[in-house]
Amino acid sequence: MKTLVTVSHPRQNSLTHAVMNRFIEGLEQNNHEVDMLDLHYDGFNPVYTAEDEKDWINPNKNYPPVIRKEMDRILSADTLVFVFPLWQYNVPSMLKGYLDKVWNLGLFGKIGEKKVLWICLTGGDQEHMKKYKRDETLSHYLNVLLAGYAQVKESRVELLCDTLSESKEHIESLLERAYQLGREYK
Ligand SMILES: Cc1cc2nc3c(=O)[nH]c(=O)nc-3n(C[C@H](O)[C@H](O)[C@H](O)COP(=O)(O)O)c2cc1C
Repeated sequence: MKTLVTVSHPRQNSLTHAVMNRFIEGLEQNNHEVDMLDLHYDGFNPVYTAEDEKDWINPNKNYPPVIRKEMDRILSADTLVFVFPLWQYNVPSMLKGYLDKVWNLGLFGKIGEKKVLWICLTGGDQEHMKKYKRDETLSHYLNVLLAGYAQVKESRVELLCDTLSESKEHIESLLERAYQLGREYK
């Protein structure tokens, strides 16, 4: 099985990157073939230009090579995993820009059978995320609205909470969770 792992964080030594690395270790133990896209490191430009918007409604539009390349990476993967921090209760703008540009109408109807997993690191702890149904609201947005818009049938969210904790044990438990997610991912 081939998994495209996309990470969105500007800092290479972030916890987000550490989580991604542990997740990939688990995936490799699980015999997945991994394709990794680091949006910042790889210099993805998330700004949606007039050229991107032009003729966006046409699924057969002639997409720029840089976008076509990312669309093809998605099409050649069986599953898609995103690893990112929660910023303003949403995906970081880099990831949003990637989705705006790459999850375009040319892919809709072609990625419905691919599984999507959103691994989201939250500064807030579990109690904070439960309050006001922040966790449910976020999952609804990612699974039903975002993935649903692209006609993806199977999407799920894994929240790794309390990422700013000073407890080394807690941070280690988040990394272990990421590893297990990779080990078990089907
Ligand atoms: C711009 C910005 C916005 C943030 N917004 C939220 C938020 O809305 N909710 C939350 O729980 N944490 C928020 N945080 C905390 C991040 O989720 C936290 O810093 C991250 O999970 C820690 O992982 P990292 O070391 O990989 O950045 C925010 C942090 C930044 C820098």
